[in-house]
Amino acid sequence: MYLSFKLFKFLFCTLLLINSTLCYDPSQRRLHNSVIIEDRLLIFSGYGYADTLTYSFDLFYLDLSKSFGNDNLTWTLIPKGSVPIYTYDSTAVLSLDNSTIFLIGGFMRNKNTLDYDYSNLVYSYNYPASTWSTPVLSGDVVPPRQGMRGVIDNSGIIYMFGGTNITNLTTFEGTIHNDMNTFNTVSNTWSTLNIPGNLPSICYEYTVNILPNGIIVYIGGVESAKFTLVNMNQIKLFDTHKLEWSRMNTIGDEIDPRIYFSSVLTPDGNIIIFGGCTKNRSSVSPKLAILDTNKNPFEWSIPSNSEANSPPSVWGHTANLYYDYMIITFGFEIDTKSYSPSSQVHLYNIKSNEWVTTFSAPDNKSTTPSTDDPIITSSHEGRPLKALEIVLWIGLGATFLVSCILITKIIVRRIRQRPSIILEISGSDQKL
Ligand SMILES: *[C@@H]1O[C@H](CO)[C@@H](O)[C@H](O)[C@H]1NC(C)=O
Ligand SMILES: *[C@@H]1O[C@H](CO)[C@@H](O)[C@H](O)[C@H]1NC(C)=O
Ligand SMILES: *[C@@H]1O[C@H](CO)[C@@H](O)[C@H](O)[C@H]1NC(C)=O
Ligand SMILES: *[C@@H]1O[C@H](CO)[C@@H](O)[C@H](O)[C@H]1NC(C)=O
Ligand SMILES: *[C@@H]1O[C@H](CO)[C@@H](O)[C@H](O)[C@H]1NC(C)=O
Ligand SMILES: *[C@@H]1O[C@H](CO)[C@@H](O)[C@H](O)[C@H]1NC(C)=O
Repeated sequence: MYLSFKLFKFLFCTLLLINSTLCYDPSQRRLHNSVIIEDRLLIFSGYGYADTLTYSFDLFYLDLSKSFGNDNLTWTLIPKGSVPIYTYDSTAVLSLDNSTIFLIGGFMRNKNTLDYDYSNLVYSYNYPASTWSTPVLSGDVVPPRQGMRGVIDNSGIIYMFGGTNITNLTTFEGTIHNDMNTFNTVSNTWSTLNIPGNLPSICYEYTVNILPNGIIVYIGGVESAKFTLVNMNQIKLFDTHKLEWSRMNTIGDEIDPRIYFSSVLTPDGNIIIFGGCTKNRSSVSPKLAILDTNKNPFEWSIPSNSEANSPPSVWGHTANLYYDYMIITFGFEIDTKSYSPSSQVHLYNIKSNEWVTTFSAPDNKSTTPSTDDPIITSSHEGRPLKALEIVLWIGLGATFLVSCILITKIIVRRIRQRPSIILEISGSDQKL
């Protein structure tokens, strides 16, 4: 069914003479990055998979200014936005003015040699210019880190807690940290904070959200070299004003501990977590839960209809909030042991608290296309076609259709012989 949809899309896109950057078919992936700028959901990096594990450097987006069904997506490639490094399990944070994405850490490989490359640990993408660069940072030395997530406060400082420093890339041995690193995106300064007391345990593969009052909330993850998972009732809080740690025991429903899950913060103060897995990559329950941060202590609850029509159990996906929708992209499905199809996202409506299949674009906002937008070429808009032109176009269309069918046949025949770069056969994420 997936293949036939791909075929349909291929024919559809080719027949409509659509620019090849539209209808882009990205490779499947996990532990990628997703950022929303204006009305685009941008996706990049991650542990990629096509027919085999594959390196991907593509930057592509889903247009959120138009409505769509969740299982027949049209992605658009930004050709100039090709990522200068291959990385997964990294963090990507948007600047306050929505102009720049900072891509930090992860398992990094050189784009040309494909060898591990930790020579630059911070990359930045200028969205209006569509250019990547390596910012020159002052201050403390930037440590190599994987499995940490960053969050930006309202003065432009990105906070990154803990994570791993994998030093043997064969055995995935290394150290786990509990330090707090900050990156001031205004002054381009890196600092490793010296916090005197009350430090939390070492931790990685948690989720992070910052509340409007400047308190950062850390949930879940791994908290020891023996792979002990963090109790979901024990929340770590970091006060960005006082630069102090504290802990909170939450109340409410029982939530399985987990790693490789996602979280979003809603405008009314709920943190919605979704998905993830255990150490042995088995599924967790419930899939979706809500932490109400308006209560003191915070309270977990499981929305009554959040299991109905819910997506498969997935880990290594991402979640972004856009108006009423939590949008889940990519990841690895536990039951089928396969990557989530790239033609599909999952949509959770945070107002009605239910999984939905249609994304309705917010209709009261302006949709001015940027200059970078690929254009659908059609020279006949707004004027009637002359008879001769119509005959010519029908002829051209018919020839085109026949070519497409032939090309499709060839592609279908070759689909299993497609050469691709082998990444790691196994075990690459079985770290520590
Ligand atoms: C794709 O989704 C749109 C909007 O929901 C729908 O109109 C269209 O029929 C779908 N196409 C396919 C091939 O499923
Ligand atoms: C950045 O984007 C967010 C979310 O869309 C918006 O609320 C905010 O006003 C934007 N900031 C600027 C400076 O454009
Ligand atoms: C990473 O780990 C290695 C070995 O434990 C250590 O020598 C190095 O200082 C660590 N680097 C950082 C930035 O933590
Ligand atoms: C990584 O570990 C393996 C197995 O213990 C060892 O053979 C190899 O030398 C180590 N590599 C490094 C860079 O320490
Ligand atoms: C995976 O771990 C869970 C507990 O975390 C256990 O219940 C389950 O049986 C394990 N599954 C496998 C296949 O080992
Ligand atoms: C549409 O406008 C209403 C009223 O101004 C506002 O409350 C709502 O958030 C807007 N919705 C979107 C999607 O922009």
